Amino acid sequence: MNILIIGSGGREHTLGWKIKQSPLVEQIYFAPGNPGTKEIGENIPIEVTDIQKLLKFAKNKKIDLTIVGPETPLVLGIVDVFKKNKLKIFGPSKKASQIEGSKIFAKNLMKKYKIPTAEYFIFNDFIEANKYLLKAKYPVVVKADGLYFGKGVCVCKNRKEAEDFLKQLNCKKIVIEECLYGQEISFMVITDGKDFISFLPSQDHKRLITNNQGPNTGGMGAYTPVPFVDVKLLKQIEKEIVAPTIKAMAKEGCLYQGILYPGLILTREGPKVLEYNCRFGDPETQSLMMQLDSDLIEIILAQQKNKLKNKKLVFKKGFTVGVVLASAGYPEKYTKGDQIHGIDKIKDKDVQIFQAGTKQLDNKIVTNGGRVLLVTATALILDEAIKKAYQYIGKKSVYFKGMQYRKDIGKNGLIFGDKYD
Ligand code: AMP
Ligand code: GLY
Repeated sequence: MNILIIGSGGREHTLGWKIKQSPLVEQIYFAPGNPGTKEIGENIPIEVTDIQKLLKFAKNKKIDLTIVGPETPLVLGIVDVFKKNKLKIFGPSKKASQIEGSKIFAKNLMKKYKIPTAEYFIFNDFIEANKYLLKAKYPVVVKADGLYFGKGVCVCKNRKEAEDFLKQLNCKKIVIEECLYGQEISFMVITDGKDFISFLPSQDHKRLITNNQGPNTGGMGAYTPVPFVDVKLLKQIEKEIVAPTIKAMAKEGCLYQGILYPGLILTREGPKVLEYNCRFGDPETQSLMMQLDSDLIEIILAQQKNKLKNKKLVFKKGFTVGVVLASAGYPEKYTKGDQIHGIDKIKDKDVQIFQAGTKQLDNKIVTNGGRVLLVTATALILDEAIKKAYQYIGKKSVYFKGMQYRKDIGKNGLIFGDKYD
């Protein structure tokens, strides 16, 4: 099969690395890809939002299956366009992608179908929202409607913070919700709109600095599975959140097909939804693909034929930990162009480097983005996976000038064990 993967991050590098192992796959194209994906297939200089060009390319190259990484082309309707042209594509339609594209859509869906989430209010302008802030009980969480790439949400301790954030957002549609407390986890399933199969639970680390300090980022590392999410809790999440969401979407005329990824918080009252994503998580996918034993292409093909019912994702024993190395200055203005050392020297089959913000310059790989790359390591025991990943980070191994990374990726799994609050 000829496969097209849309995107250029660590998630797409990992998806390519994984499906390259499938006997069903002959050639992989990445649009636009990165220097890491170039080692796996062919990079095509088409932006993820240029749907017409992507369509033309897929037709010309007789692409058998397109896999969409980021949310923007999904929310723009790439799936509808490809399907109209009889091309196989993995991801939800424009209408179904609203589940990530609009917080208001998602919140109203959860309310209507009694899917556990934070209590909330919706406002249609700044004045209305600001008035509410006068009488609100703090902290509150202020969320902009629409895609804001992690910058549209703020947990506000007091009125001033909330008002400042509202001003900064400068948007019309706003959700203000109660603040929930508990461990956050990521849970992804593949669904054909009716049946679904689940990935292992994983945990992202959104704050920049060790011990959950500093600003929010796109994610500084992730590990899977999460020891404090036991089978009973998984079943509860599937029964109370995943299954009702898929059913609700079908009932609303938005048949949901692709990856459904609710971001969850494990509160004292049980798991609740913080947000929905309509795609694979980044950086969780990097760890999940290292753990996955099943042929992902075979599973996606079953999904395309609505034959997920008797399928299962099989995972290897053990744990994978992925640590992001970010440029100096990230998540604000960051440096670019620093040479990355050591990525071609790792010979351990349980360790992989997945590239994201990198660029080829002559015969060197240099930094070219905020989150530059991810060092992932697998081991039978979580503690060992953590040690193994960190062993390859530093001046003697993978290194670039000014790199910043968290020192505690995966530690939550060790600390909390089977408890989480
Ligand atoms: P979201 O994009 O909605 O997932 O929000 C980004 C981050 O904000 C989440 O990962 C949480 O850390 C935090 N957050 C969002 N909603 C809430 C909430 N209701 N209570 C506490 N934290 C939240
Ligand atoms: N890991 C967070 C996200 O993919 O949205």
